[in-house]
Amino acid sequence: MPAISPVTIDIGTWERQRDAAVPLRHAVFVDEQKVPLELELDEMDAVAEHAVAWIGTRAVGTARLLPDGQLGRMAVDAAFRGRGVGAALLQALIERARRRGDRVLRLHAQLHARGFYARYGFVEEGDVFDDAGIDHVGMSLDLDC
Ligand SMILES: CC(C)(COP(=O)(O)OP(=O)(O)OC[C@H]1O[C@@H](n2cnc3c(N)ncnc32)[C@H](O)[C@@H]1OP(=O)(O)O)[C@@H](O)C(=O)NCCC(=O)NCCS
Repeated sequence: MPAISPVTIDIGTWERQRDAAVPLRHAVFVDEQKVPLELELDEMDAVAEHAVAWIGTRAVGTARLLPDGQLGRMAVDAAFRGRGVGAALLQALIERARRRGDRVLRLHAQLHARGFYARYGFVEEGDVFDDAGIDHVGMSLDLDC
């Protein structure tokens, strides 16, 4: 059986990551989840730090971290889910936020993904709300301790 290549995470600017991140986000959010294209890409991409997960030469996942500590656009290629790619992306961005001095991370979790974020310490806050036709709940992670 061939060896499974490890996941590596690269964090960089939108300019550097967009060619890898855009197709992944489009496949997951626009094609799979039916989020309108005009809501998927926004002006915050230009100021965010973007993590891209690689297995060998294939980009398999992405997520972004905004300057105010908001995490988002977490998307793993459907063919590569359940292999630790999402965990690697999330942990890399938590570490990045900690290193740059963020004190709290926040995100809007799709309800089905609440348990994923809770595994890494995020706690729910507030009520369920609709964003782009999908139910979400706010979650936060205190980095101060
Ligand atoms: C949610 C998502 C990012 C998870 O990525 P993934 O690569 O499949 O997750 P991982 O394999 O790294 O899972 C890490 C751990 O979280 C668990 N987990 C994964 N998805 C979960 C979910 N939806 N609910 C609860 N736990 C989950 C895994 O079982 C694993 O647990 P383990 O460490 O005990 O084995 C991925 O399913 C995805 O891209 N979904 C579509 C886009 C989306 O909904 N993004 C979230 C928007 S808020």
